[in-house]
Amino acid sequence: MRVVVTGAAGQLGQDVMKELSRRKYQAFGTDRHQLDITNEANVQEYIHEVKPDVILHCAAYTNVDAAEENEELAYQINTGGTENLARAAKQVGAKMLYISTDYVFDGTASEPYEVNEPTKPLGAYGRTKLSGEQLLQQNLEEFFIVRTAWVFGVYGNNFVKTMIRLGEERGEVGVVHDQVGSPTYTVDLAKFMIELMETEKYGIYHATNSGICSWYEFAVEIFKQASLNVVVNPLTTDQFPRPAARPKYSVLSKKKIVEQGLTPLRDWKEGLAAYLEESKR
Ligand SMILES: NC(=O)c1ccc[n+]([C@@H]2O[C@H](COP(=O)([O-])OP(=O)(O)OC[C@H]3O[C@@H](n4cnc5c(N)ncnc54)[C@H](OP(=O)(O)O)[C@@H]3O)[C@@H](O)[C@H]2O)c1
Repeated sequence: MRVVVTGAAGQLGQDVMKELSRRKYQAFGTDRHQLDITNEANVQEYIHEVKPDVILHCAAYTNVDAAEENEELAYQINTGGTENLARAAKQVGAKMLYISTDYVFDGTASEPYEVNEPTKPLGAYGRTKLSGEQLLQQNLEEFFIVRTAWVFGVYGNNFVKTMIRLGEERGEVGVVHDQVGSPTYTVDLAKFMIELMETEKYGIYHATNSGICSWYEFAVEIFKQASLNVVVNPLTTDQFPRPAARPKYSVLSKKKIVEQGLTPLRDWKEGLAAYLEESKR
């Protein structure tokens, strides 16, 4: 099976490439130089040349705060880029899997979000990712949309790395305690994506590690597992203002994964332990 991966130099894309090659797929990893997804001609030419069976679309404009000032650019990449790929996928008959985000929701829920619940992004990043979802659905009758959240992997800049760096530098950190969600280890997400792409179980999925925590609780667990003696002070969102508003409750329900007979991702604490182990290598 021939699989094109966009954003293959990114945090998730690198682990997706590793998992694909481990399983002996013919994987074509592309970064923005090989395949600029905003360039329609480039996308057409590349996809028609490679003729993949599957496109795993991991490329995105992911700077949530900067997107507030650069919505046009985020739109070109997250929405326009996804549309370009969806059109090309249709022409060559490839399956397409688009990675989306918990930020399509406003976070006012108190129960985990099901896949069919109304969306209402709070900021530019979420808006552009959501319109990417919509254009994918308009262009393809059959598609995979996988919404994930709080992603960490050894190849990216992420919360775990930031906490360990700050903890080692300062010995004390302040972390918000009134935003809850579920962390996601890239290796676990990559395995789920590959399991899903093998099926014809099309539609929208929510895929994060299982379990729920606040960013504060996540930080406490990171220092515990990394055996770092760091004081963690709980903060409110108001005490830690950011350019982009974040959903307060961004827990995604994984019910559909179970209903479809697919494999749920393990608990986030186990994912964190595996990440810390992998980081030592
Ligand atoms: N990180 C999270 O917490 C999180 C949460 C929910 C959902 N997601 C989603 O998960 C997916 C993977 O995220 P990630 O954490 O792996 O992000 P990442 O490390 O920022 O990777 C995204 C990749 O996309 C590439 N890219 C940007 N513009 C491009 C273009 N025009 N053409 C081709 N490639 C382009 C980037 O290249 P450059 O580095 O050269 O710009 C980067 O390598 C994204 O769809 C993201 O929206 C992430």
